[in-house]
Amino acid sequence: MNKTGFIFDLDGVIVDTAKYHYLAWKNLANELGFEFTHEQNELFKGVSRKRCLEILLDIGGIKANQEEFDTWMFEKNEDYLKYIEKMDESEILPDVPKVLEYLQVGKFPIALGSASKNAQPILKKVNLLSYFDTIVDGNNVTKAKPDPEVFLIAADQLGVDPENCIVFEDAQAGIQAANAANMISIGIGDAKTLSEADYNFNDFTEIDLKFLEGLTKNNI
Ligand code: BG6
Ligand code: MG
Repeated sequence: MNKTGFIFDLDGVIVDTAKYHYLAWKNLANELGFEFTHEQNELFKGVSRKRCLEILLDIGGIKANQEEFDTWMFEKNEDYLKYIEKMDESEILPDVPKVLEYLQVGKFPIALGSASKNAQPILKKVNLLSYFDTIVDGNNVTKAKPDPEVFLIAADQLGVDPENCIVFEDAQAGIQAANAANMISIGIGDAKTLSEADYNFNDFTEIDLKFLEGLTKNNI
């Protein structure tokens, strides 16, 4: 019997932290003397902190030496952590607990597969840590999405074959990573941006539990 595993991205799938990442990057951009828009922030989704700073400095036309680069990356994270500090369960995206509860009751293995190095403290803050059998995050990977590494490690840790894993993602790079891992990809968010996903939903309120059951029956 093949098990079905479920892998969740964090930022933009479980919690709406993209707005805090945006504010912290915007604060840094303003400090460096330029603007940073919501539109530009789209490029930052699913992308590592280091890569985000490289893109930000490109936008501002700023060349940094290693010391400046490290200082700004540290500053951005300290600022971001101030927003995270105030988070509570009210910031969980709609119907996420309903889906997690359904999967846990059904004894399906559940993993987190995130680029963030702040994943554990965020899950703790919003009280969802106990749903996850394993957490693979920015501290455990060497290659960023769209590389499939994060999801392949998660599948391995769950003891589930990649083709029997279902991934929830809000970033284009994340959908590409899931597809490259040979997993079923479910896009959460704008269907146009996430057109490479196997299935698309605006959010979890649109996901019928029967639909999830149907996906798992394909594998059991
Ligand atoms: C991803 C976000 O989940 O994590 C990116 O979509 C973010 O925007 C990345 O840059 C890294 O996060 P952190 O918390 O390690 O800075
Ligand atoms: Mg995300």
